[in-house]
Amino acid sequence: MTMRRHLTFKKSTSSSSSSSSSLVCGNDAAPRARRARNSAIRVVYIACSSLVRDRRKESDDEKSETDKASLSDANAMADAPSSSPRDAAFDQVHDASRARVMHRLTDGAGTTQRGNSMDQQSKEANVLYAKSQEDLLRVKSHNPAPTTVPPPIAALAGNIGERHVLVFVGLPLRGKRTIALRLKRYLRFFHGARCRAFDIAATSGSGAVLDELGRFLRSDAETKGVNVRLERDGIDPMDANAKHVDSGRVAVVYSSDASSTFYDTWSGTSKERRRTILRQLEELSDGDAHSGARKVKTIFIETTLTKQALKDEVLSQRVARDVKKGLVKPEDVEREKTAWRRRIDEYRKLYVTLQEDGSEDDLSYIKLYNYGERVMTNRMRAYLPQRIVQFLTATHPTAHKIYLCRHGESEYNTTGRLGGNSPITAKGMVFSEILARFAGEKICGMRRDETTGEWCETSSTKRARLWTSSLIRTIQTAAHIPHPKISNGDWEQMSPRVYRNIDEIFAGDCEGMTPEDIVLNNPQAAHLRSMDKIGYRYPRGESYFDLISRIEPCIQEMESYTEPVLIVSHQAILRLIFAYLTGVDREKAPGMNTFAQNVIYEITLDASCEDLITNDVDAVPSFVVAHDFNADVARLEGVTDAEARRAEIDAIPF
Ligand code: F6P
Repeated sequence: MTMRRHLTFKKSTSSSSSSSSSLVCGNDAAPRARRARNSAIRVVYIACSSLVRDRRKESDDEKSETDKASLSDANAMADAPSSSPRDAAFDQVHDASRARVMHRLTDGAGTTQRGNSMDQQSKEANVLYAKSQEDLLRVKSHNPAPTTVPPPIAALAGNIGERHVLVFVGLPLRGKRTIALRLKRYLRFFHGARCRAFDIAATSGSGAVLDELGRFLRSDAETKGVNVRLERDGIDPMDANAKHVDSGRVAVVYSSDASSTFYDTWSGTSKERRRTILRQLEELSDGDAHSGARKVKTIFIETTLTKQALKDEVLSQRVARDVKKGLVKPEDVEREKTAWRRRIDEYRKLYVTLQEDGSEDDLSYIKLYNYGERVMTNRMRAYLPQRIVQFLTATHPTAHKIYLCRHGESEYNTTGRLGGNSPITAKGMVFSEILARFAGEKICGMRRDETTGEWCETSSTKRARLWTSSLIRTIQTAAHIPHPKISNGDWEQMSPRVYRNIDEIFAGDCEGMTPEDIVLNNPQAAHLRSMDKIGYRYPRGESYFDLISRIEPCIQEMESYTEPVLIVSHQAILRLIFAYLTGVDREKAPGMNTFAQNVIYEITLDASCEDLITNDVDAVPSFVVAHDFNADVARLEGVTDAEARRAEIDAIPF
């Protein structure tokens, strides 16, 4: 697969102070009104903040410096030391409150209460915490009582500090494992939850499952962002402690071999087993919320299949996986299937579904019938449980394909400008024609009639969908894709659906600039973004976290499709969708190599994907095929005769 490297932002060569001062100079002519407002704000803080009261005299002495100090503070680089004497003074005042919290969180010997996995936890929390905003959260002369956490966009919010255990129950071969692992991926990627899957078939004994769950769920102190923040200058640990950016911990319990674990407590196959699970998990809840302890909430998720076609598909996928692993001989496939059917019939006699007769009404549960076709929920209130219900209503393990491609070359691409809404070039147009044939033949399985030029149904025609962003370059790229009516006029093939949610990242003040322009004109932006690409929000623009929040509803819809969908979008958006689908952590997505232009990525999703995920940005998993048309686009760019170009495109082998 061809992957090209994208220009990376160079680190600013100018020092932080010089960049700040140039910005201050630029603002020297600011109106008197703003100076008056800044002074007023300062006075309000002086009047209100007990922390500041003690410093009033020094503040008055420094009155004339206020405007300059506040502006240069606001523009200072995130890693610049808070060096001004007045900031040092404020820091001293804050040391007192910091010491109070340290005392509470230390074991008396001055070491914080952290487990062995502290390094890992710190790293995770560091990533969650938007580093580029750190400077904005520090105590400054103009902002003596700053907020201590980044704004609560959905991708960073979630159920702060909560503990959930999701227990999958149901008969063997009902797709529980696939759904469980996909849910884990979703909660991590879109909600920043620390989510771990526990396979009871791979753990020896019920006691061991409980021990592992306990270790994961109980490490409460480590989970709080406060431990990271305590080490940071000027950040008020009291407030950070109250609001930490932890999005909760979620344990997903499933069995990769539901027939061998049928009698295990954690399989939840009877009312009694479910009660035992509930009781054991309640014991893991510790203390009251005020002491920082958390209640463990248990949710049962039951998958029931009533449609024969779905049962057959899950069975076929399972046996195919076993053949691949060498556990079943290819000639034994039918015998294996018959044996499975017989076994499931036996288990059906023993399995007790989640009861609706009042005896299990106190449980939180979700009953999925034929995956999202019919969903029944009981006691599923609150933020994360409702996100879980929504996701489970959409997702399914049925094999289906997602095609991703970037728009053809745009005018801005030729000069390296970011964002904007420029049209595609002649080169982009060639790709759009190739994409049209690819979509008609390869994705939809249709055939173009040589004489009439009409697209016709064949025996392999399938219903297919198309999404573009709302920007000209993706709409033009998809413009040649055919939309014949099929299935007796019931379905318009690739009916264009335009989603603003998949528009490119909005670079705010930097729209239309090249990366080099940004380094020259706004070195602070270039520097902060290179430090923290996922969290950095362009001035008056967006961050990757913002994108994660805005694509989430579309991802839910995409999960629900069984038809192939072609998504024509943009670099930053496609990095995220690709990372999510291929199981790469969201923190790694912004750093992925450039999402190549003129390449169509074909992603086949089924139950086997979860085994093939590597979480390595550079190792594309085997369920992805990259159809690279760069050589064809380069060859045909100069062919201006439409007929000749069409003939050449028709000859490209797919
Ligand atoms: O350069 C093309 C582009 O799609 C820009 O419009 C966008 O700002 C950029 O790529 C996103 O990539 P990155 O996040 O690496 O800057």
